[in-house]
Amino acid sequence: MDAEQLIQKYLEFFEKKGHKTLKSDSLIPENNASVLFTTAGMFPLTPYLMGNPHPMGKKLASVQKCIRTGDIEDVGDSTHLTFFEMLGNWSLGDYFKKESLTWSFEFLTKELGINPDKLSVTVFKGDENAPKDEESTNIWIKLGMPKERIYALPKKDNWWELETGPCGPDSEIFFDTGKKSCSKDCKPGCSCGKYVEIWNNVFMQYNKLREGVYKPLAKKNVDTGMGVERTTAILSGKKSVYETELFEPLMQEIKNDSKNYQEKSARIIADHIKSATMILGDERRVPPSKTDQGYILRRLVRRAIRHSRNLGLQYFTLEKIAKKTIDIYKKRHSSIEKSREFILNELKKEYEKFSKTLEKGLKAFEKISGNDVGGKDAFLLFQSYGFPIEITKELAAEKGLSVDEKSFNAEMKLHQELSKIGAEAKFKGGLSDNSEKTTKLHTATHLLAEALRRIVSKDIKQKGSNITPERLRFDFNFNRKLTDEELKKTEALVNEQISKSLPIIKKEMSFEEAKKSGAHAEFEGKYKEKVFVYSAGDFSKEVCGGPHISNTKELGRFKIVKEESIAAGIRRIKAILE
Ligand code: ALA
Repeated sequence: MDAEQLIQKYLEFFEKKGHKTLKSDSLIPENNASVLFTTAGMFPLTPYLMGNPHPMGKKLASVQKCIRTGDIEDVGDSTHLTFFEMLGNWSLGDYFKKESLTWSFEFLTKELGINPDKLSVTVFKGDENAPKDEESTNIWIKLGMPKERIYALPKKDNWWELETGPCGPDSEIFFDTGKKSCSKDCKPGCSCGKYVEIWNNVFMQYNKLREGVYKPLAKKNVDTGMGVERTTAILSGKKSVYETELFEPLMQEIKNDSKNYQEKSARIIADHIKSATMILGDERRVPPSKTDQGYILRRLVRRAIRHSRNLGLQYFTLEKIAKKTIDIYKKRHSSIEKSREFILNELKKEYEKFSKTLEKGLKAFEKISGNDVGGKDAFLLFQSYGFPIEITKELAAEKGLSVDEKSFNAEMKLHQELSKIGAEAKFKGGLSDNSEKTTKLHTATHLLAEALRRIVSKDIKQKGSNITPERLRFDFNFNRKLTDEELKKTEALVNEQISKSLPIIKKEMSFEEAKKSGAHAEFEGKYKEKVFVYSAGDFSKEVCGGPHISNTKELGRFKIVKEESIAAGIRRIKAILE
């Protein structure tokens, strides 16, 4: 039986049991910031699982396209994928455990003809939030499941939930592949590959408010999920999902074109390029980018590119994989056919972009990788060569080295904060980067502005600013050339503040409060509700996005190098720190 037949059989079976079939939703959830992708069939049904009536009734079924990157490190084994399709049936306050488990068992053994001796099941063991699921255990016994193949497992195995929202205990059905047990503790849930989870029946009775806090739902729901690829592999007697018709044409292209074929790399390439094709070709098209879904997409493509290089593949093989993916899925997910050109263009652009830095990045990796890779180095590879952390981790693992991911994440966070600050500063028209030198010159600019007000005219306002690591440039309103004496005094006043070791203090307040406190603000009316005010001792106070150093003593010696006119009534000073 192939995937298409499985899907049809499933939807027909549940239609006969009174379910209406829903269309697959987009991979990109609507108005939901908590997850980037649709990770399960239940996702588009969240409001209805919470109690809102669904226009199509209380019994629903679908085949939903999904992306999950949580298991990305397992991709390459026989069952884990980043893109997959999930068959699901739902009861919105209608039937519950008995019908749900009975129908699942009936479908697997009668409709699909799977030998019941090959199946085993798990149920929730119970904890402080919810009791042991005796009901499911008894249903399984009645269905003929031998007691020794019913496993009661803890929350980490038998409870399904997202960060918040509808959730509950589940009962999972496993297929025994016939492989030898890996140990005497080997049982469903073990990752050795003997047991493959094919269907999950979740009994959604709770709303998760936050970690560890559950509120009973008004109605009891059922949410189930069955993996199309895994079940197809089992039904067609294949050892892995990559041998099914959903992957075989992709794998064939890789085999044909590889100079140095390796199965695991080939699987990663097929999986990642397929996922990328589906994301690019989703009805809510997403191109590669630096954030959110676009960044996940970029990481998938880049990891695939890195593996293709190992196999000696060129771009045209990746393009062929994308085209084959379109062929496989266009019937069920028609948006990919409509986006064909967009998919191939974006894939090519990303390939060209990453190819420019990949070789250099690999050389840089060789230089730093004598020892385990520190967070700073991993971050350098990310920032300078566009290496997502997975690539660095893989390269390190190939040499038996580890990567300090925690410190990498800390560097990332710092970088993100700096770029946020950078964006705010750019709004003020100022900094070319966030380097230490630029930051120092930025603080010096504040001192210069205040010194000019005190020495030359209290009405001086900033009209422009541009700071590079080499020098600051400060434009201000004044209608004549400054005298040598004014320049000398200004310079001396700034240096005096530097020598006073004034602390730079940052405070957040409303713009109104900032004005009241006497802070200078250069772009009246353009500020958001909350602003930052930076003060240097009692000397200067300005509304500003930063970044700044923490004490004026770090600045060194301030020197004005030029004063000139740039427009009627506008002067420009260039200055440096020595
Ligand atoms: N939502 C459940 C799962 O994804 C069915 O396993």
